[in-house]
Amino acid sequence: MAFLGLFSLLVLQSLALGTTFTDETIAELSVNMYNHLRATGEDENILFSPLSVTLAMGMMELGAQGSTLKEIRHSMGYDSLKNGEEFSFLKHLSHMVTAEESQYVMKIANSLFVQNGFHINDEFLQMIKKYFNAEVNHVDFGQNVAVANHINKWVENNTNSLLKDLVSPRDFDAVTHLALINAVYFKGNWKSQFRPENTRTFSFTKDDESEVQIPMMYQQGEFYYGEFSDGSNEAGGIYQVLEIPYEGDEISMMLVLSRQEVPLATLEPLVKAQLIEEWANSVKKQKVEVYLPRFTVEQEIDLKHVLKALGITEVFIKNANLTALSGRK
Ligand SMILES: *[C@@H]1O[C@H](CO)[C@@H](O)[C@H](O)[C@H]1NC(C)=O
Ligand SMILES: *[C@@H]1O[C@H](CO)[C@@H](O)[C@H](O)[C@H]1NC(C)=O
Repeated sequence: MAFLGLFSLLVLQSLALGTTFTDETIAELSVNMYNHLRATGEDENILFSPLSVTLAMGMMELGAQGSTLKEIRHSMGYDSLKNGEEFSFLKHLSHMVTAEESQYVMKIANSLFVQNGFHINDEFLQMIKKYFNAEVNHVDFGQNVAVANHINKWVENNTNSLLKDLVSPRDFDAVTHLALINAVYFKGNWKSQFRPENTRTFSFTKDDESEVQIPMMYQQGEFYYGEFSDGSNEAGGIYQVLEIPYEGDEISMMLVLSRQEVPLATLEPLVKAQLIEEWANSVKKQKVEVYLPRFTVEQEIDLKHVLKALGITEVFIKNANLTALSGRK
């Protein structure tokens, strides 16, 4: 058994969010971010939550005005929406994915850590509570160790203790005024579980052709599966897509596997928001033998470069227009 590579996508299946802001807006952003991360990363796994980024940028957007605001809206793909319409959609989206009747657990927590004495506009505070249900905490960033502990405690508390030490004291100093923190937690059980006794050690061939020994989970069952063409004739140009549902069938993981002879890097540039939708619409339920590496991924990404590449630059410079957040710059 040799896999050259594999990547996965969490697909929210039934997002019917009005006509202009669809799951495609986020899918588009996800794909763009993925491509920028891919370009900068060195052959590492990539794991990020577009939902988390979207919410964090939404909070940022509430504080922005003028050209800074325009840049964020444009880069996030909100140009076709009426001013501010995205906030209602983001609120709706957060509610929908965290619905209590779901069989998976998804938690979203937003928080604002503000320097004691730093003035924040009342309207901003009201909006950030209304749309993002954000808590506001006053802290002293000069006490960077204490602040980092406080924020880490908060994150830990909102991610079932899964995410620890998110920030470090080095992230803050006496000139820090504000930290916007967003935590997204997801836990779902596969609808059809892999049985631990069926996990075996397999040899896994990486893109660079080196081999590693990994625990490979196995099960045979009915899954949504499809074969697609990458348009080339090389090695048949066929790749496989498998959708594995979580309990409740509301959410699923989509796995894409290129043929053994084809490096993952050949396939990645093909991925577009529309293609993901096409996969979801075209996979058919059938009997499939699934071998899936058991994996854990932990990653720290500095999104500044990615956001800049997406066109969000002004918020990172001194004369960012954040006058909606605070009267002062
Ligand atoms: C920020 O943008 C608003 C709205 O366009 C504008 O009135 C204001 O002068 C700008 N302020 C700064 C500091 O750039
Ligand atoms: C942890 O979260 C719970 C529920 O979200 C909240 O009631 C509690 O105050 C939080 N504790 C800390 C230390 O943030």
